[in-house]
Amino acid sequence: MADQQEQKRLAAEQAVARVSSGMILGLGSGSTAAVAVGLIGYKLRTGEIENIAGIPTSNQTRDLAQSHGIPLTTLEERPIVDLTIDGADEVDPAGNLVKGGGGALLWEKIVAAASRRYIIIVDKSKLVDRLGSGCAVPVEVMPFGWTTHLHAVRELGGEPNLRTDAEGKPWVTDGGHYILDCRFSGGLSDPVQVDRELRKRPGVVETGLFIGMSPEVIVGRAVRA
Ligand code: A5P
Repeated sequence: MADQQEQKRLAAEQAVARVSSGMILGLGSGSTAAVAVGLIGYKLRTGEIENIAGIPTSNQTRDLAQSHGIPLTTLEERPIVDLTIDGADEVDPAGNLVKGGGGALLWEKIVAAASRRYIIIVDKSKLVDRLGSGCAVPVEVMPFGWTTHLHAVRELGGEPNLRTDAEGKPWVTDGGHYILDCRFSGGLSDPVQVDRELRKRPGVVETGLFIGMSPEVIVGRAVRA
């Protein structure tokens, strides 16, 4: 565990080394991205960088960034993001990702797609041969008609579960949607097809499959683009 934390820190340090003054930064969500947010705040406080603004990918990250004194902006004000640093739940050898374990996949994907440069920071436990082999694939859906997607997920070989809170009520994303956590035994043989089939369903807002977004992936000290 200590080693895993160290890998997260090393990856975050390497990513934050790419941050420079004047940048609009996409701020990812999750425990690894949180380390990067802390380091960005430190660089600001020490005067190493200045005049940056962050676009948070979740309300949790917004609160964290504010606690570190990072000025925030929005995609309305700044629709082009210079650099986004985020974590991932799984990374395959082609740089495709599963994201959304923390439920922030929709805003994360929007910010990533608006970014000139996209860096994913992970410890090596996140590297997989096949997406979906070690974690469920989150699918964000409108509350209205969410049950209509269950059969479709099963037809694609997955087993969907509505994400719930501690009281057993549906867990609601920052965007006001539900999440279906879909387990695929043995992982996804064709993530592109699963992503396409799910996203064409009315009421499916986004999937946690980040395909073809070509991030630079930093694993601890190792960098692979
Ligand atoms: C948040 O919704 C996710 O996409 C996170 O980026 C992902 O869960 C990685 O989180 P950790 O860095 O905490 O593993």
